[in-house]
Amino acid sequence: MTTDKILREALADHITASGDLRSPEWRQAVLGIPRHEFLRGGFFRRTDEGGRTGWEPVGPEDPAWLPACYSDDSLVTQVAGTVMPADIEGRIYRQPTSSSTLPGLVVRMLEELDVGDGMSVLEVGTGTGYSTALLCHCLGDELVTSVEVDAEISGRARAALGRVGHFPDLVVGDGLKGHPEGAPYDRLIATCGVLHIPAEWIAQVRPGGQILATVGGWLYSSELARLTVRQDGTATGRLLGGAVSFMLARPQVPPPLGVLPDMSEGEERETHLADDPLEDWTARFVAQLAAPRAQRFRLAQDGGDLDILLDVDAGAWAALRREGERRLVRQGGPDRLWDRIEDHLSRWHRDGAPTLDRFLITASPEGQEITWTT
Ligand SMILES: C[S@@+](CC[C@H](N)C(=O)[O-])C[C@H]1O[C@@H](n2cnc3c(N)ncnc32)[C@H](O)[C@@H]1O
Repeated sequence: MTTDKILREALADHITASGDLRSPEWRQAVLGIPRHEFLRGGFFRRTDEGGRTGWEPVGPEDPAWLPACYSDDSLVTQVAGTVMPADIEGRIYRQPTSSSTLPGLVVRMLEELDVGDGMSVLEVGTGTGYSTALLCHCLGDELVTSVEVDAEISGRARAALGRVGHFPDLVVGDGLKGHPEGAPYDRLIATCGVLHIPAEWIAQVRPGGQILATVGGWLYSSELARLTVRQDGTATGRLLGGAVSFMLARPQVPPPLGVLPDMSEGEERETHLADDPLEDWTARFVAQLAAPRAQRFRLAQDGGDLDILLDVDAGAWAALRREGERRLVRQGGPDRLWDRIEDHLSRWHRDGAPTLDRFLITASPEGQEITWTT
């Protein structure tokens, strides 16, 4: 057996042991698709030095490259919206914008997608094309459509898919709009995060079909959701748990902070939330439901750090600080962000602080509601 085949077997065993890989069809797909072909352009290795996160390229000539391709890790393939590994030497300090998702999560999502023979699938976020190839292996190329917003990334995915003998319908465009030309689909799977399930997805999946996507927000907590499309044009389902996170769909990334409001204005009071709720993944998700357009950042000041929430469009803000044992919040603008977050979190605590796999989601062309069961 060649080295990459041995590595593929080891990867399949690893994600079987972790519980992500459960069925023989997807095991055959993992064994049949060489992930390294989707990473020929290299990837970026994360470095954390001096409190800064940087990214340095690793190419196929590096002995670490092939084993990394078969690790159960996400591998960043583009930074800052345009920079590919072959473009730089040294290190770059910007945000990742495309990656090959960790295989365990890709396969867990494919298992959750619950596809059967003859079903058509729309994938949003082609990325390297690895997950697209697994879908093609299982369903056949003619049943797979994949949309990628970045033409360069889509072109590279097309070449990689061709190298491994797959030719699905690859579309360059904003996947939040779906791809109506191929509708209706039996399944829609998104490998980028969304703030809410777009109306176009509900319209393009047939009634009884399913949408699998990670819903999140600008406080950076998110969760995988599976929804079934109804005859009445709504989609309902639940969150699946596991603290799944993906990079947000490009049109939904938060707006620039702009000119900051004067944080010496507004009213200050003590907050009755003892610990910092925004440090906890689930509590942050709940807070995000109450203030969906709030962004968070810290401001270091002589009198101590401020933990700030700001809704740029509305101009509403809340600044939290410690004073001894007390936590104080000052709020300003047309809306009281922290009051809303406190109310929502208090209700969630009174209901026994349910975990995210007990949350329900309903989406319709008018909007989206996420609640929890007690
Ligand atoms: C995590 S990566 C995809 C991983 C991919 N499934 C794989 O296995 O390699 C997310 C991808 O979504 C793409 N993306 C972001 N916003 C998008 C949008 N609105 N429509 C389509 N693709 C989008 C990004 O450019 C990125 O390539």
